[in-house]
Amino acid sequence: MARDESRTEGGRQSREDAAARASIAVRPGEFQHRQHRKSEKVFELKGVGVRYSGVPAVKEIEMDVHRNDVTALIGPSGCGKSTLLRCLNRMNDLIPGAEVEGELLYHGENLYGPSVDPVQARKLIGMVFQKPNPFPKSIYDNIAFGPRILGRKENLDETVEQALKGAALWEEAKDRLDANAFGLSGGQQQRLCIARCIAVQPDTILMDEPCSALDPISTGKIEDLMIELKKQFSIVIVTHNMQQAARVSDRTAFLMVELDADEDNRWGRLVEYDDTEKIFTNPTDKRTEDYVSGKVG
Ligand SMILES: Nc1ncnc2c1ncn2[C@@H]1O[C@H](COP(=O)(O)OP(=O)(O)OP(=O)(O)O)[C@@H](O)[C@H]1O
Ligand SMILES: [Mg+2]
Repeated sequence: MARDESRTEGGRQSREDAAARASIAVRPGEFQHRQHRKSEKVFELKGVGVRYSGVPAVKEIEMDVHRNDVTALIGPSGCGKSTLLRCLNRMNDLIPGAEVEGELLYHGENLYGPSVDPVQARKLIGMVFQKPNPFPKSIYDNIAFGPRILGRKENLDETVEQALKGAALWEEAKDRLDANAFGLSGGQQQRLCIARCIAVQPDTILMDEPCSALDPISTGKIEDLMIELKKQFSIVIVTHNMQQAARVSDRTAFLMVELDADEDNRWGRLVEYDDTEKIFTNPTDKRTEDYVSGKVG
């Protein structure tokens, strides 16, 4: 994430940067041998749960997230989608009282292992939020912020251009790079946030309801962008928009709130996780069918 204060040394060569990208460990380069295959697992969740101040919010999540897939997390409000998403880049670490349990592997490595640097992890696993949150800076400086912190100051113009092109914002922004980012529309601001995220060359992008504050045209642009971006990145998206999940995602996980016998405690559970087509056309669980068809939720 661009706001992170990276411990990465300044002035690192781009070749070394590429090697560093392969690992979340404090010692970069350890996983250079990793082979990227279409079916490669980016995340493996084994019995993952989260508690806030001891109270469970999600329990026993078992799922794999695959490389170059768009993976959608859907389910009713409060079922733990954002909580689960935040586990994937250790954002829950920043919430007082939040505890993550179970095993969560990132490219086969324990994301919560002692050698993992959470700052490095969040650089590799970027995040885009519901409400666009550009910095109060120029368009250019928003994008250049992360690379500058990482000491990647060479070819900054090129980095900014590529990131804006990658986020399908270049044509609209190229003549106003020095203008304040707050002057962009909401949809443009969200694409700017995506550009800011990809400027630090992540491997995965997490998006928590990235279109919920946007109009249909801007939403369509972000959806097209996701399909383009997944060629290069793996994407996990939380959405309440069923059409969006069906349109853009390869795999869909449906979570639901479960109550204990006294109905005193509630937590989220994964009901079904499968190819998006299966989830939307022929789900195994009746609860999934009811939710995706709009009968409940
Ligand atoms: N920072 C927090 N502190 C305490 N409890 C939290 C915190 N964030 C979430 N929770 C609780 O965890 C549960 C899951 O919340 P979460 O925000 O992950 O759900 P969600 O599926 O993303 O909901 P929505 O669709 O409304 O965004 C809820 O019961 C919520 O109250
Ligand atoms: Mg949420």
